[in-house]
Amino acid sequence: MPEWLEQILRELQGSPLGDAVRTTPFMYATLESLHILGIALLVGPAFAFDLRLLGVGRRLVPVTKAARYLLPVSHLGLAITVLTGISLFSAQAVGVAGSGAAPWKLGLLLVAGLNVLIFHRGVYPRVDEWAEAARTPIPARVSAVVSMTTWTGVIFAGRFLAYV
Ligand code: HEM
Repeated sequence: MPEWLEQILRELQGSPLGDAVRTTPFMYATLESLHILGIALLVGPAFAFDLRLLGVGRRLVPVTKAARYLLPVSHLGLAITVLTGISLFSAQAVGVAGSGAAPWKLGLLLVAGLNVLIFHRGVYPRVDEWAEAARTPIPARVSAVVSMTTWTGVIFAGRFLAYV
């Protein structure tokens, strides 16, 4: 790890946030539990929506209705996961960043985020043309598969942070 990065991570670790997460009784375990709750709220609705993009439940619910119901919950889950993730990270930034799983988690998070952005900007704006179609367009299906794959990868990398 380059010297300048280690310096920044050490400062984060020594910050009031890092100190509080490390030294307050049960704080780390509480944040980990909230991190998992955030993941459930993020990944559960996201997968349900991705499955709808792949055609599951197409006779029951139009894509637009599924999006309006599921995506705000998923966005709330992402906010909880990111806030708790940064707090957990601050407690032992140097150690976690040194894990072999850290580049995977960061890289997959970036791909997952980029996929969300491309979907919202490039695919979803024309949803009225295919909301109730028998087959969703290929870009929507690709987006669903990329989403399910990358979020699964982030979960694996997150769990592996503690072991590799
Ligand atoms: C800015 C975003 C994030 C940061 C900084 C972050 C950071 C962390 C940290 C520091 C840990 C604790 C590792 C340990 O205790 O050894 C962790 C655990 C974990 N993270 Fe994240 N995380 C983020 C987002 C996410 C997302 C979006 C997911 C899943 C979709 C995720 C999945 C996990 C999992 C499954 C664990 C293991 C939980 C456990 O074993 O208790 N993380 N994360």
